[in-house]
Amino acid sequence: MVPAYVPNPVAALCGGGTPIDFNRNYSDGRRILGDGKTYRGLVCGVLAGIAVGALQIWLASTCGWSFLPQHTAASIILLSVGALLGDMGKSFVKRRLGKNRGDSWPIADQYDLVVGAFVMMLIFDPAWLLSNITLPILIVILILTPILHRAVNIIGYLSGVKKEPW
Ligand code: CTP
Ligand code: MG
Repeated sequence: MVPAYVPNPVAALCGGGTPIDFNRNYSDGRRILGDGKTYRGLVCGVLAGIAVGALQIWLASTCGWSFLPQHTAASIILLSVGALLGDMGKSFVKRRLGKNRGDSWPIADQYDLVVGAFVMMLIFDPAWLLSNITLPILIVILILTPILHRAVNIIGYLSGVKKEPW
């Protein structure tokens, strides 16, 4: 899951500039995605996720660290891209529900990246998903994700990177 966990904090670190929705509104008069989803955040986040995944592949092969997951070029790209697509999908629904950028939306804010990453995997590489995400691993992911999310966001808030601690 590391290639899926890295994109969000990196997007928060280097995001900004042109919003993905180009400031456009949806038919309900609200922003399509909002100012919290930018091209710079998307590109930097995805590249960082892929870079860390490539490091995992390299470590697994050169150091013989067989405890590392069986990542492939496809798996690290799908996890990184999926994580931020999930984040964008969540923001789209959030805006439709009338929630403003940065408003808290419990559960969705924490699991959006997991849903996005798994949906991408399910569509483009279901074999990887089935052989790597076993039930015990899924349970660990479901427990670990909100804890990591909260911890990283508090660090982001205290260090001034994020405006909200969620
Ligand atoms: N970010 C970005 N581009 C993305 C994702 C995130 O630039 N594709 C940056 C934005 O600066 C954003 C910050 O990361 O404010 C934190 O991300 P997140 O909490 O997902 O966004 P919010 O500002 O809370 O917006 P939303 O309510 O839409 O989730
Ligand atoms: Mg947020």
